[in-house]
Amino acid sequence: SQRIAIMGAMDQEIAILIDSMKSVKKVEKGGITFYKGKLKGQKVVLLKAGVGKVNAAYSTAILAENFEPEMLIFTGVAGGLHPEAMPGDIVIGEKLVQFDFGQVDSTGFTVWPFRKIGGGPHEDLFVEADAELIAKSTAAANLAELEPISGRQPRIFSGVISTGDVFVSSNEKAAFLYEEFDALATEMEGAAIAHICRTLGIPFVIIRSCSDNANNHARVNFNQFVGPASANSARIVLAILGEM
Ligand code: ADE
Repeated sequence: SQRIAIMGAMDQEIAILIDSMKSVKKVEKGGITFYKGKLKGQKVVLLKAGVGKVNAAYSTAILAENFEPEMLIFTGVAGGLHPEAMPGDIVIGEKLVQFDFGQVDSTGFTVWPFRKIGGGPHEDLFVEADAELIAKSTAAANLAELEPISGRQPRIFSGVISTGDVFVSSNEKAAFLYEEFDALATEMEGAAIAHICRTLGIPFVIIRSCSDNANNHARVNFNQFVGPASANSARIVLAILGEM
């Protein structure tokens, strides 16, 4: 029978999922702790990947080798880039792109689209998430009982998510990512997971809740909202599983 893999990067991102799991069996593989069990009646394997693209790619590979999941759902927080994507808002990743893979110019920003050595666009850097999982995630996000953050009911966005090995806290960099990649949010794992899932043929979706706006205030906002934003993203995962 199918096993659904659920991944987060940090403890906060998977906390309420671990607490909601039944018949949990802990298994260690390759230095990663996997939690096998039932969540909303579904057979799942849950793990914390760690932060950044290396941890994300490694964890996805170890997961695939040992558990052969039929699909992967990532849940966590991100920095909102869309001018209206405020802390608390949800971004479902339709396409994932590594923004720090390529060539850097004198401005310090990765040059796009002349990323391949010798020039030429690197379109395969955009990895598409699974259409069915995107649809299920969007439906679940609208159906889940999400907590208001800063007195606002979360809005649901879907589109491009950019990924890089840095916590973005710069107005200029945030604007660059939005303009250059059309990215609605930025985070540190999605495109790495997407890349490995594409290689291995595993359907996946990346669900993110904004903890900040990747701007000059991002660090303060992140600390304030990482808890409630993580919880809302996890609630969407519970809603997806409940509808399967
Ligand atoms: N995750 C949450 N906020 C982020 C940010 N501003 N940059 C990168 N990853 C994040």
